[in-house]
Amino acid sequence: MSTIAIIGAGNIGEALISGLVAAGHDPKSVIATNRTPSRSKYLENEYGIRTTDDNHAAVSGADYVFVCVKPPQVVSVLSELADTIDKNDSTVVASLAAGVKIADMEEAVSAGTPVIRIMANTPMIVGAGMNACTPGRYVSDQQMDEVAEVLSAVGDVVVVKEDQMDAVVAVSGSAPAYYFLFTEALIDAGVQAGLPRDLALKLAKSTVAGAGALLSQRDDEPATLRANISSPGGSTVAALRELEESGIRGAVFRAVEACARRSNELGG
Ligand SMILES: NC(=O)c1ccc[n+]([C@@H]2O[C@H](COP(=O)([O-])OP(=O)(O)OC[C@H]3O[C@@H](n4cnc5c(N)ncnc54)[C@H](OP(=O)(O)O)[C@@H]3O)[C@@H](O)[C@H]2O)c1
Repeated sequence: MSTIAIIGAGNIGEALISGLVAAGHDPKSVIATNRTPSRSKYLENEYGIRTTDDNHAAVSGADYVFVCVKPPQVVSVLSELADTIDKNDSTVVASLAAGVKIADMEEAVSAGTPVIRIMANTPMIVGAGMNACTPGRYVSDQQMDEVAEVLSAVGDVVVVKEDQMDAVVAVSGSAPAYYFLFTEALIDAGVQAGLPRDLALKLAKSTVAGAGALLSQRDDEPATLRANISSPGGSTVAALRELEESGIRGAVFRAVEACARRSNELGG
């Protein structure tokens, strides 16, 4: 079984660890690093993985290195580790940091080191993430397939071009927040309609999860699923007309445009 090093086991690093272990990856072949000793202890106890505060020790002999530190730290962490990674035969370096470009990662590591840029999203914490990957120029098809296999433990995987990453951030990386906002509004509206808050919360959460499951398990377009529950002259159509009159589609277009623009400004 391949050895996987997770550099920076915070929220996203832990999600990856949790998914890998749940998918049957041998915990002892996962090694994570962190700066806070108590967190490393927690990760050892919770998942049975190995931890160290020495990034060099973690990447030494690793087949895959997943860099999960904050974006401003990625290049310096990779530069420090370049020689150690280079000593391995064929380590693949994958970064989950938003906005850090492949060219900058390739410049930080030794020439020829394969690097992959990944845009994940937080549903990976429960194994339902969306991972969009761009392989750098030294990544073979087989290496990309192997990393996709590792990532499939925490969700879906697609390969995209790097110039699509800002749009990817807008449609999947940041998008869980749009659904959370919509759900918050639905809860408040349910309270306004006379439901106790805890009941409105249960109904709204369960419905967004159920609609998501229906979308993902059927090949139907969302428009078809919506039409299926829109009886002529019925209550659903009355609600949809209000949403359309409020400009929901235009708001989504503008939100996605603003998110992609901001992602680009931040270095995406
Ligand atoms: N959260 C999201 O929605 C999301 C979604 C997709 C992608 N991402 C990306 O995932 C990355 C991590 O985000 P996060 O939310 O998981 O952040 P986080 O919880 O702050 O995790 C970062 C971890 O890196 C550790 N760390 C920092 N410097 C280190 C070093 N030199 N060596 C080893 N470990 C180091 C930190 O340890 P200490 O706490 O001890 O300093 C912390 O555990 C970011 O680059 C972000 O862009 C996040």
